Order: sequence, then C-alpha cells, then structure tokens
Amino acid sequence: MNEEFHYKNGELYCEDVPVQQIAAKAGTPVYIYSQNHFLKQHESIVQAFKNVEPLVCYSVKSNSNLGILRAMALAGSGFDAVSKGEIYRALRAGAEPNKIVFAGVGKTPDEIDYALEQGILMFNVESEAELDTISKVAAKRKTEAPIALRINPDVDPKTHKYISTGKRENKFGIDLSRAEACAKRIKELKNLRLRGLHIHIGSQITQDDRHAEAIDKVTPFIKKLKEQDFPLEFLNVGGGYGISYHPGEGLPINDFATKMVPKIKALGLKMLCEPGRFISGNGGILVTQVIYDKPSGDKNFLIVDAAMNDLLRPSIYQAYHLTWPVKHKGLADGAALGDNSLLEKEEAIKDGTTYDVVGPICESGDYFALGRKLPTMNDGELLAVFSCGAYGMAMASNYNTRGRPAEVIVDGDNYWVARERETIEDQIRGERLTPRELNQAKA
Ligand code: LLP
Repeated sequence: MNEEFHYKNGELYCEDVPVQQIAAKAGTPVYIYSQNHFLKQHESIVQAFKNVEPLVCYSVKSNSNLGILRAMALAGSGFDAVSKGEIYRALRAGAEPNKIVFAGVGKTPDEIDYALEQGILMFNVESEAELDTISKVAAKRKTEAPIALRINPDVDPKTHKYISTGKRENKFGIDLSRAEACAKRIKELKNLRLRGLHIHIGSQITQDDRHAEAIDKVTPFIKKLKEQDFPLEFLNVGGGYGISYHPGEGLPINDFATKMVPKIKALGLKMLCEPGRFISGNGGILVTQVIYDKPSGDKNFLIVDAAMNDLLRPSIYQAYHLTWPVKHKGLADGAALGDNSLLEKEEAIKDGTTYDVVGPICESGDYFALGRKLPTMNDGELLAVFSCGAYGMAMASNYNTRGRPAEVIVDGDNYWVARERETIEDQIRGERLTPRELNQAKA
C-alpha cells in the first residue's frame, strides 16, 4: 500500500498537503511527487539486498526531475544513465561520478568521451562495435575505460512487448553466443577494464523468478571470465521491478531478493541494480481539471486539461492508471492507492457515470481512461491520475504546442515547484522565421 497518497475527510493528500492546495498554487495539469515515497522505495531495495553490498543506481530515465535526483543523491543512490544529458543531470543534482553507470545501444564517441572525462563507474557495453569505439576514445584520453558487458540472456520477462529487452530478438545487449568473442576482444584492446556483467531484461516485471533465470543463463559465462582472470567485481541485475497499477500487483521485493541473493553471493560479486519505476512509479500523480462534460453518441466524454503529451502511457501501451476525483465525500479516510477500498468504491459507485476521460489533443488515442465508472464530475473539478511518477513527465512532449506541466515535490508538510510550467516562449526558443534575405530573393 502507498500511504503517501491518501484520502482524509474525502480529500486527497500527498503526504501532509492537500492536493487541491497544490493545484491552486501551481495550476493544472501538474505532476505531484512524494519525496518520501522515492526514499522509502530506495531503502527497501537496500535492505532487501543488504547481504550482497548493493549499489542501487536509480534509473534517471523514469523521472529525471533535478529535485528528485538531488533527493536520491543525498540518500546515497547511484544513477543509471542512458545519454550524456542524463549523466549531466545526475551530476548537476550532486551525484558522485563513480556511482554512475551508462547504458544504451547507441552511445556516440562524444558521449563516451564526456563520460570518461567525468569518471563514471562503468559503461554497460551493448555490442562488439561499441567496444572498439570506447577503446579508441579511451586511447585518445590515454586512459583505461571501465566497462561491463551487457548480455542478452534470452529470457522472457513476461511483460508488455514494447518494454521487453532481454529476449533474443530485442536490440539490447550482446547475444550469449557472441559473448566469448567479446571477452577476447577486450583482452586485445588493452585499455578496457572489464569490471562487471550487466543484464536488464525488461520493465514492469511482476514475476519474482525472471531475473533469477537470467542470472542462471549468464552464470557459465561469468565462470569462464573468472577462469580467464578478468577482474570482475559487479553483477548488474538491471531494473524492471514491477509496481502496483492495480491493487495487489507488483514485484514482492523480499521474495525477489530471497531468490536472487544466494545466486549473486555464489558468484562472489557485488550487486548493482538499476530500478526506475519501482522507486518513482507510485511516487507521483498527475492532477488535471475537468474542462467539459460531453455526452456524445452512447458515451460520456470527460474532457480534461491534461493530454497524451503530458502522459503518454495509456495511448502507447494501453496502460491502466487509476483515475479518481481529488475530492470525493464517499471515500473512507485513509483510502490509498493500492488499497482495495478505493477500487471497490470505483466499482460500486451508485451515483456515478461511466466516462471516457480524454484530453484536448486532436487524436482519438488521447485518453487516460476508457469506459471507467467515476463519481459524476462537474466542470472545474480536479481528477488525479495515479502511478504517474515513472515515465510520465519523462515522456512528455510539446505536441499540439502544449507546454509541459509543472512538477511539484512534497516532503511532509512542505512542498515546492520543482519545475515551472513551460511557457509558449520556452517552446519556441531556438526557432526562426524565414530569414528576410530569402523572402526578398523570392519577391
Ligand atoms: N536499466 C535499463 C538499461 C533500462 O533500459 C531501463 C528502462 C531501466 C534500467 C529501468 O527500468 P524500470 O526499473 O523503470 O522498469 N516507458 C516505458 C518503460 C520503458 C523502460 C525503458 N528502460 C513505460 O512507461 O512503461
């Protein structure tokens, strides 16, 4: 259960602050984050894996707000980055460079050079060609590049096909059959130091044995590397730990750790992991205001001021997000996300209306909830879309020239705007009208 977002006197709170108060100050749509949720989730992983000296590298891509990264850095977290920009963000937020890992199938020489200059912990290398490029860039800098090989273990993570990364047909990681050739290449190249092995098999994984199977698949290769005297220190088991979008769903972290710890221990390696969603997902909501109620055809469309540019997940993954009024008298005190009483209410509403909750964008895929029974809502009232802390703002765009929403962080009874709402001027910065000379030439 997630107590950080809960109802009191029929009103939604984030930690100790009424959500309506935040929306009145910051406007809508607005992302609201519970800082303590992020810290609590981070700590739960540290505790579950304490016997294998875990280094948790929070996955920046899931929520890269600087204030969030700052809180994570202060909690001792490392960072998993996938671009120069994410490394920059982490460093700006106070990350220790030697707690940053850098993954991605298309790292450019410029990005590699930047990461080497900053002194990151290691590159998670995804191809033979990348080994050569990292080696060249490191040679230019007259330095040794720390790397891990990201292996594709060909394991089915049993998740949405767009977020599966560990099956053979996916573009990620090095095929096991090519891994030994890579090890040989590392020896030849001299200025690469193989410090670890990396696997990341997908996202929103809810079965506790998927990662363990991946470890089993790579164990023979790890043993071979050790026999060949590679100085391996880390096993990076990736991220992908699922959360509850529906009550009761999600990866049980302690059962998961019970399956993983003996395997990691037997290999004599330190554990590194890269959770994003597990830390951020249920730490954020998107608050939006009802603009119009539009009965049409056989439906009731509830048109709200947030849209698919603010939260893309329903449109592209048909993702379910619990959506509920910020104020609703019928709700039991303490009802919280993940608490069945909230969903039971959703099913049992007597005075409700079945809505399609949609945004103002010119696409039929612009929706948050389809055919959902909610208490009947009026124009101007607020709706909360839950479980939006991961891949919400991080995937927001300016489609339809809409400014991205503001982001607010709550810590106990304090809150602050951690990122201003984007203005139209912010959006057109860098754009140019046709240069005058060209217009004159045409005339
Ligand atoms: N490590 C690597 C190498 C990754 O590619 C990812 C996510 C993570 C860690 C963190 O995964 P997490 O713990 O958050 O599952 N936009 C999609 C999710 C894409 C995940 C991409 N990679 C969504 O909204 O569901």
